Amino acid sequence: MAKRGADLKSDHEDPVQKEYAHLAQEYDDKWSFYVEATLQETLKRIELHSGERLLDIGCGTGALLAAIEKRYPDNILAGIDSTQEMLDIAGKRLSKNVHIERSWAERLPFEAETFDVIVFCSMFHYIREPIIALKESIRVLKPTGRVVITDWCDDYITCQICDLFLRVFNQAHFKTYKKRECYELLLSSGFDDIKIDSYKVNWFWGIMTATAYKNVS
Ligand SMILES: C[S@@+](CC[C@H](N)C(=O)[O-])C[C@H]1O[C@@H](n2cnc3c(N)ncnc32)[C@H](O)[C@@H]1O
Repeated sequence: MAKRGADLKSDHEDPVQKEYAHLAQEYDDKWSFYVEATLQETLKRIELHSGERLLDIGCGTGALLAAIEKRYPDNILAGIDSTQEMLDIAGKRLSKNVHIERSWAERLPFEAETFDVIVFCSMFHYIREPIIALKESIRVLKPTGRVVITDWCDDYITCQICDLFLRVFNQAHFKTYKKRECYELLLSSGFDDIKIDSYKVNWFWGIMTATAYKNVS
């Protein structure tokens, strides 16, 4: 099977592309509550130090990067997303200092050891090959680098129902994870010092945020 992102020109048939090309214009309005809630929970768990470089994978319309840019104006920020229509909106929201580029989590367009922090916010359930994506993150993280992943948590019954429904009716969706599965994915991809918090942002959405460090031993 061709590696995702190997030829971006042929990606227009990808279900994620189709879904988000269609959703892009209404995404911020339609998902405003959810994006703001998950963004705030993610921000709480990103402790960016002066001069650190951060990459937001699946940055979408750039809401998280905009909040990080406001809070940490001196840091170097970048975002990638597979859907150009989402990035077009991010481009209008972010300053020119933030580098954004169309690409896939599974094949990052950066040299080894470029970033201190990598964030995945509400996009991990779309990744078909999570181990490949996490190993790609390991590659572009510096030796002391860390990852922050916020996504739906399959330990909550509402998310289990949502996951089952979307697997049947939405081709873009791939899979949500339980905390234990997320822990094992991170461990087997080369992360350690893994911590995972789960919480609800309202009665329906059960979320988790995982933080982990690149294992250099
Ligand atoms: C639900 S949106 C989340 C956007 C943003 N992170 C947020 O919190 O609002 C998911 C985004 O992930 C992108 N995406 C999905 N799978 C991807 C992949 N494998 N590589 C890069 N981007 C991906 C989609 O194009 C979409 O913009």
